[in-house]
Amino acid sequence: MAEIPALKRRLIQEGIDVIDVGAGDADLAPPRAAVEALARAARDPAMSRYAFQLGLPAFREAAAAYLQRRFGVRCDPFTELHPLLGSKEGIAHLAMALLDGGDVAVVPEGGTVLAGGEPYRYALTPRSGFLLELEELPPEVVRRTRLVYLNYPNNPTAAVATREYLERTVAFCRRHDIVIAYDNPYCEITYDGYVAPSIFETPGAWECAVEFHSLSKTFCMTGWRLGWAAGRAELIAALGRVKNYVDTGAFLAVQTAGAAVLPQAEQLAREYVAQFRERRDAMLPVLRAQGFEPETPRATMYLWVPLPEGLPSATFQRRALEEEGVVTVPGSGFGAGGEGFFRIALTVATPRLVEAAERLGKVLAAV
Ligand SMILES: Cc1ncc(COP(=O)(O)O)c(C=O)c1O
Repeated sequence: MAEIPALKRRLIQEGIDVIDVGAGDADLAPPRAAVEALARAARDPAMSRYAFQLGLPAFREAAAAYLQRRFGVRCDPFTELHPLLGSKEGIAHLAMALLDGGDVAVVPEGGTVLAGGEPYRYALTPRSGFLLELEELPPEVVRRTRLVYLNYPNNPTAAVATREYLERTVAFCRRHDIVIAYDNPYCEITYDGYVAPSIFETPGAWECAVEFHSLSKTFCMTGWRLGWAAGRAELIAALGRVKNYVDTGAFLAVQTAGAAVLPQAEQLAREYVAQFRERRDAMLPVLRAQGFEPETPRATMYLWVPLPEGLPSATFQRRALEEEGVVTVPGSGFGAGGEGFFRIALTVATPRLVEAAERLGKVLAAV
């Protein structure tokens, strides 16, 4: 993923008409309420001061109100919730807050390695419905595991978790004294009547989980860098202590914009989801007509597309890019378990997605 911007620039310089369905970064405009609140706030000199870890109280309160309204989760906005510079930041820093040398975290690797922990890789495959089944971990690994990252609705597989799965996973983590980092940035991007839960709707989860939310995907605000973590006061305080050393808070004007959009989160999300759904429903039949066999996702902005047996995803991705100018992400880029798939993000307008599907069909026919 990190190499894609430079590759794409080179191809555009060579005059190639590139269609980028790589990063999960939609082309849609952020909400007007966010832009107007940011513009107004940016003119107020007080907004140019350090936010510190407290940040903008109104943002904390709006995030807590959203959690209560949407999921029935009550949390104290000042001790059980913490603003983040995008959820990625908090996800990495939580590992630094909780891991000691030699502790195991079940992916993601980055923050774990930086924290001196030991990542344990688990392949999300169709066999388990792309669910991370903790019962399958070796007992010796479970004994040393301090942190498990769960992300449903899932990037890249678009899988969703059942309540039964969440219940047994929470029970397992409580039994083994493991903290769940529940990475939930796609909870509003759902289709066909599916409503994604908060982990805190699962009995006992408050004892063992921290949940991450983001404005990036729901409101097409990836570059604004705003999200939050919620959870038990001790866990949130541990995250805040690490952040004290590395950042001084998201731009207050951006937090003002966050406070402006969160009261309308569900309505705004419905409008974006309608566009993602239209894109999904336009692209899937074209992909299928070209010989691909993707499942219809019930959530996220991603299509997780299987490749014919024996075709390495990196080979397909490189040929799609070099021969047809289509940027995708190879499954192997997410770890060995992703091999045999590639990911399409529904981040460009429908006619371009249809064209991308046709171009990908040409690559498939040629390999
Ligand atoms: C599952 C998941 N978590 C977290 C993030 C990071 O989002 P952000 O840091 O923009 O909030 C992403 C971005 O792609 C994601 O897919």
